Parts: sequence; structure tokens; C-alpha cells
Amino acid sequence: MPADLLQNPRARAHQSLDGAWPIIVDPYESGRWGYQGGPAAQGYFLDRRAAPGSDELVEYDFDASPRLQVPGDWNTQRVDLELYEGCVWYRRRFAATPAPGRRQLLRFEAVNERCWAWLNGEALGEHQGGFTPFEFEVTGRLRAGDNSLVLLVDNRRRREGVPPLQTDWWNYGGITRSVLLLDLPSTFIRDYGVGLGTDGGVQAWAQLDGPASAGVAVALELPGLRAAATAVTDASGRCQLSLPPSPGLGLWSPASPRLHAVALASPEDRVEDAIALRSIQARGADILLNGEAVFLRGVSLHEEAPGPAGGRPRSPAEGAQLLAWAKELGCNFVRLAHYPHDESMVREAERLGLMVWEEIPVYWTVAWEDADAQALAQAQLQALIRRDRNRGAVILWSIGNETPPGEARLRFMAGLAATARALDPSRLVTAALEQHGGERRVVEDPLGAHLDVLGLNEYIGWYDGPPERCRRTTFECAWDKPLIVSELGADAKAGLHGGEAERWTEEYQAWVYREQLAMLGRVPNLRGMAPWILKDFRSPRRPLPGIQDGWNRKGLLSELGAKKLAWGVLQAHYRGLAGA
Ligand code: GCU
Repeated sequence: MPADLLQNPRARAHQSLDGAWPIIVDPYESGRWGYQGGPAAQGYFLDRRAAPGSDELVEYDFDASPRLQVPGDWNTQRVDLELYEGCVWYRRRFAATPAPGRRQLLRFEAVNERCWAWLNGEALGEHQGGFTPFEFEVTGRLRAGDNSLVLLVDNRRRREGVPPLQTDWWNYGGITRSVLLLDLPSTFIRDYGVGLGTDGGVQAWAQLDGPASAGVAVALELPGLRAAATAVTDASGRCQLSLPPSPGLGLWSPASPRLHAVALASPEDRVEDAIALRSIQARGADILLNGEAVFLRGVSLHEEAPGPAGGRPRSPAEGAQLLAWAKELGCNFVRLAHYPHDESMVREAERLGLMVWEEIPVYWTVAWEDADAQALAQAQLQALIRRDRNRGAVILWSIGNETPPGEARLRFMAGLAATARALDPSRLVTAALEQHGGERRVVEDPLGAHLDVLGLNEYIGWYDGPPERCRRTTFECAWDKPLIVSELGADAKAGLHGGEAERWTEEYQAWVYREQLAMLGRVPNLRGMAPWILKDFRSPRRPLPGIQDGWNRKGLLSELGAKKLAWGVLQAHYRGLAGA
């Protein structure tokens, strides 16, 4: 099974296995078993070829097969796979030179949605969860020279899946993020945490992994401040470190996104990171960043590349473009919906000075009483927190989106909130609650009792009545807690103009935004918003010819980045809030 995740893998010695991988589309999964009882050579995971001149029966050949780019979904790389939901085999040959006493990990940043892995014909294990990283230790299993890595990827949606069968986004399948072969000393720093201490200094811990983990010295260094501390690991290989407050310890904020160079060093290992030091708290209805009340001027976004085909970003630059637009809009906050985005998005948000809401895909109606679904949701939350715990820009862990109230759902979600708090008491827990109804809206979903910050999705003006209904609608909240309107919006086809009362026009969308923004000014404990959504995105649920054509058109931008009228409405509002 996958190993415990390595903290900050790109800072370690590694070779990228990204590139063109041969693939075999296998809707009948014939490559998994070969013929029932037939020659084992049929198993595609063996990566065999018939010997030249032999009459051996081998009915596949990766070397002669078509390629797909990794990272990348298969839907946007092959027209015949645009809506494909099933199994695809991937193969990567690579040379390795495993040195004695070193350890090697294979790391996958994300594979959607389920996969099985083989190295040199031997099973490594399997993983479920389409948006979080996983690893296999392959020490002693690599050949000096040529190695064969084979993955079977299955993106079929399942009732007990997380996300479940129904979503409102494209089911992009494949090895959608990077693959790394990591090379590590025999005893290395497996995990660590570095953040601002309650005393205003730096608090850190490190967890070593390997035969020489216990009773060894670990150093914490902040070279920019010429500050360092050391500690000795306990019998479990873990130690705590701290540095006292110092004048140079500039805090991170959107206005001053300062990152501190940090290094952790053990006898055999050293890892360097860039750390945003800040504090985040909820006090009454306020959200406090570094002790000061803050209003989150945000926008929601899917992790989908700009351009006519959409698709998962194939490079950090494509994701960075989305965040550059958010900055241009006047945001200090982004909601990375509805699943963990690539780590590069979070690091880029940190660099740009954008606070971040991260979310696991507990979306709409999950199989609340299914043990597999519970385990899958918990595993994704744990992997997300483990991966991004040191990303100071992340202020909110969202445990779900628009999950319908019910006893089983409440138990499921309360369990996730408890896990988030147990793993990371330094951040705030939220969820996007759904809100429909009359003109007196009361936020009283029982899940709210388990949240630090209430997220609220409401679509007055699009799904709930005409835009002018905003003028008659009031909001109350059953708790004295911060409220973020985590979704509002309306569809508009970019370039379609008409009267503001004409649905699908840019004028209509802009009208909805004007009415919504006026209404939200009357919501007493509103402390932020993340309108839905930055950019039009692909969804099989949106077929309206000539308008949607398989795209959800609630973007403030078209899929090509064309600004709609509503962009200007929100941008002016955010500039006003920022006192620009
Ligand atoms: C829902 C949901 C989004 C969806 C949006 C819409 O609230 O959270 O994922 O895309 O509304 O209907 O456009």
C-alpha cells in the first residue's frame, strides 16, 4: 500500500518521470488478468513483447502503442477519449542508478481516480482518490539500468466514491499530475511542520524515517535571520524545535506575502522550504489574520487550464494564469474548489499573497453510511493536510460542498471536522452549505455547529428567483461565527449581449452581481465571498446548444479569458473594499 507521504518532495533529489507515456485503452480490463487461465504473458503489467522469431502469443506492445502526455488528462489529449470513463494502461521505462544505502520512492502527485501500479512486473499496490499524492517505496526493487513502471488507471465514477456519481465538472481521467522518482539517504526527514508559534517565534517539529532516526541531532535554520536551533530526536525519531520571536520575523499577509527561507538538517539529510509565517483565528464573527480582522475578497475556481479544450493544467504556468486573473480581479483570497488542486497552485497563491480555501471532494450526495466512502474521504483529508500543512497561505480546510442535511451525513462530516482539528489545530474548518428558500434566509444547518467558519452557497437571481429578489432577502445565522458566501453567480455566454432581463446575456449576469453585492452588504456576519466562478468550465451537465455546449457559463471570464461585464462589477466592488 502507499507509504506515508514525504514532505516537500520537490526539494529532494529526484528525477522527473513526466513526458510521453505509451498507453493502452482497455475498457474490458483484459490486460489485468490476461485470458482466464490463459498465458500470464497477457498481463499488460508484465510489459512483455514476443521474442523476435518466436510464436509466443503476446497481444499487446507498449513500444508500438500511442502516447499520452504525463501530467495530463486523457480526455483533452484524444478526441476518442473526451468522454471516456474506464481503464487506461500507462507504461514508463526509465533508467535508475540506485546507490547502496540510498532509498527510493515513487511519488504520484495525482492520478484520477483509482490506480494499480507495477514495477518490473511486480505489484507495488493501489491507490484511490483522484486529487491527492501517494507514494510507493521501491528501495531494492529498482534495476540498475532499465526499469518498467506500469499503471492501470480507472476513472469510472462510483456511488460510494468521493466524489460520488454526480458532480458538476468534467471527469478528467489519467495521470493528471507529475510523477517523481525520489532518491533519499537511508535515514531521512520524512515529515516536518514549521509555523508561527503562539509566542510570536517559530515552532517546528521533524520526523525522521530510517535506521538512524532515534537520538540524533536535527537543526532548524532561518538563514535570512541568521537564527538556528537544534534538538535531539526521541525514540520515535521525532523532535520539537523553536526559535524565539525576533524583529526580523516578518509575517505573511496579502499585502506583504513574505516567505522565510527555512532549512531542516539531520545527520544524513537536509531539506529547504519557503515558509509563510502568520496566524489565523476566528473570534466571534471575525476572521483574524495576524490578529487583525480581515475580509476575504475571493473567487472560486476549478483546476482547469485556460483555453478552448479545458483539461487539467499540464504545467504550473497554466495554473498560475488562473491565480494571476484572481489578483487582477482584486482578490486577496481564492477558493480552490471542489478538490485539492496541485501543490504548485497553493505555492503560487502564497507567493502572490492570496489566502486559500482548500477542499476535499465530499460533494453533494455521498454514500454517507458506506465504510469505503468514509475511509476515502478521511484519507483524502489526511493527505491534503499532510501535503499542505506548511503552506501558510492556506487558512481554511473545507470538508465538503452542498451536502444535504441528514443524520448519517452529519456523523460523516463531524468525523471529518474532528480529523481536520486533530491533524491541524492551527487552521479553521469550514464547508460550503447549501441555502435555498424564501426571502428570510436562516443559516442553521446542524453541520454549522462543527465549523469554525460557515460557507454558504446561494444563487438568488439565477436558481432562486429573479435578481430583484435580492432586495427583499435577509439573512440570519444561528451562530456567532464568520460567514463566507462561498458561491453566488449566474451564467452568461461571453459576447452575448441584450437587455439585462435576458437570461444568458452578459448584462443579466452583471445585474445579478450588482443585486447580490448590494444584498450581501446587509449580511451581518459576512466576512468574505468567493463568487462562482473565475472561468467558464467544462461539465457534461450543461448541454444547451449555442450557449453552454458542455460548459458551465458562470465564469466571470470565458474559457479563453475574455472578461464579461460582471468582471468589472466585481472588480470595482473589490477595489472599493480594498480602499483602492
Ligand atoms: C453548485 C455547486 C457547483 C456548481 C454550481 C452551479 O452550487 O457547488 O459545483 O457548478 O452550483 O450550479 O453552477
